[in-house]
Amino acid sequence: MTQRFIALVPAAGSGARFGGPSPKQYLQLSGRPLMWHTLSTLARVPAIERVVVVLSAQDEWFDSFEWDIDGLEVLRVGGPTRAESVAAGLAALNPQANDWVLVHDAARCCLSVAAVEKLIAELADDPVGGLLALPVPDTVKRADPAGRVSSTLPRTGLWLAQTPQMFRAGVLAEALAGGQDESITDEASAIERIGLKPRLVEGDAANFKVTWPRDLALARAILDARKGG
Ligand code: CTP
Ligand code: MG
Repeated sequence: MTQRFIALVPAAGSGARFGGPSPKQYLQLSGRPLMWHTLSTLARVPAIERVVVVLSAQDEWFDSFEWDIDGLEVLRVGGPTRAESVAAGLAALNPQANDWVLVHDAARCCLSVAAVEKLIAELADDPVGGLLALPVPDTVKRADPAGRVSSTLPRTGLWLAQTPQMFRAGVLAEALAGGQDESITDEASAIERIGLKPRLVEGDAANFKVTWPRDLALARAILDARKGG
């Protein structure tokens, strides 16, 4: 049976930490809105059949830009949290239980085609699925309320979760239906809650999430360098 791969991109956040007049996914970067880079990278992955972006129903920015991304599907079903935006998008795209869904943050605009292809190649035969992630490179400290180090954590076995996170549509829907709680901060944690163990696939540092204004210079440098080369 052939496998189908669908990219689902939650983009219904307000970018509170970034601030500014419009959500960070609409900032101009290398001549395009930030999330154009995200969506066009996913659209250039040959294995991916559908690219679906989830906007807030109140989104007033999307329609003011040219997207020219072939086949891009737009859903205005975003919810108050990222997990709710993903769950609503997943329900609206009406997948087959067996389809692979790659959930990717709109704000990770420096994702490369090669990283997505590596994720797909390593997980296509996996019974559970998994995610791109990075081994923690630095020594990790726990702070006390006064901002002093209370302990140093062993970093052995610690990874930083990125996206895409790739799971079968049926299993992901079941995992997200378990409801909202604060420990569910990504798709993998919902999958873990139902007793499964997502696989970690090593990604790269360029696939960081634009979160604060200080992240913009690095994203711009990476995108401009790719465009130039
Ligand atoms: N997201 C979403 N629906 C929400 C919240 C977030 O679709 N209710 C999306 C964001 O648009 C973003 C991705 O999830 O692409 C990762 O979230 P994050 O980086 O936290 O973005 P925001 O929630 O917009 O930013 P902040 O937390 O600073 O408000
Ligand atoms: Mg957020």
